[in-house]
Amino acid sequence: MNNPELDNIEVDLFVQALQRRHGYDFSQYAPASLKRRVQLLSEQLECKTISGLIERVIHEPKLLPRLLDGLTVPASDMFRDPTMFRALRETVLPMLASYPQINIWQAGCAHGQEVYSLAILLEEAGLYERSQIFATDLSERALEHAQEGIYPAREAQQWSRNYQASGGSRSLADYYSARYNLLKLDQRLRRHVTFARHNLAADGVFCEAHLILCRNVLIYFSNPLQERVLSLFSDSLVRGGFLCMGLRESLDYASSANDFSAFDESQRIYRLAAPQERKFG
Ligand SMILES: C[S@@+](CC[C@H](N)C(=O)[O-])C[C@H]1O[C@@H](n2cnc3c(N)ncnc32)[C@H](O)[C@@H]1O
Repeated sequence: MNNPELDNIEVDLFVQALQRRHGYDFSQYAPASLKRRVQLLSEQLECKTISGLIERVIHEPKLLPRLLDGLTVPASDMFRDPTMFRALRETVLPMLASYPQINIWQAGCAHGQEVYSLAILLEEAGLYERSQIFATDLSERALEHAQEGIYPAREAQQWSRNYQASGGSRSLADYYSARYNLLKLDQRLRRHVTFARHNLAADGVFCEAHLILCRNVLIYFSNPLQERVLSLFSDSLVRGGFLCMGLRESLDYASSANDFSAFDESQRIYRLAAPQERKFG
């Protein structure tokens, strides 16, 4: 019989087991969505209870990538939220063009769709040769897939529409080859991309960035973890650097909101304020 109180105890024990056995700390993820994902994993792996899943966490180390995949929701799309990519194309990239070298950190890159979208934007703006994209994620599996750049061909139509809506003037098909029911992104788009594992809940500053995209990741975190990540981003950005968040995410209630000023609030694009521009501290 379903008992929410027992489920909560089991989810806490699961999180502890994962942390002690494998070193991954999910204790600061938003509790309701984490619980849903642990329950789903337990069903998918045919465990009668979450306690059954805990036993497997401890005794089946090979299960780890599958567990991380289930807990981290690596869902993405090319040119997801085209209006944001249009704003990047039309207002942010022209400002970044004044830098001789442009460093971009894409945190939580999932299976890479946003990375390739960004590479296309930079290519079309004539900036790619002096750009470096650092694409990071917690999940090794997602990173491996991102590097391959192979996706189901059924996505092509929607991605093409997104690309056009983002202001793309070519055909998205110029950037991939299709075979059977798969499409493979042009691997030249990867020439200035470094993929690496980075855990936003535990690791430190990754690079000195002019632009950070971290979209649809903080939504899964509790407030203290969101604060940690925002302060990491504030330490990683050059002064005046840009931060793009997901359209359902916001700096509204974050105490580190103070470090940033809104550049395009409707598209959740912010800039790191100079210290004297900050209201407090
Ligand atoms: C919903 S996807 C977002 C993908 C992409 N940014 C987008 O908006 O389409 C969330 C990604 O965040 C990653 N993630 C979750 N927790 C993380 C952490 N602690 N450190 C780094 N990445 C994390 C997941 O593995 C997943 O790939």
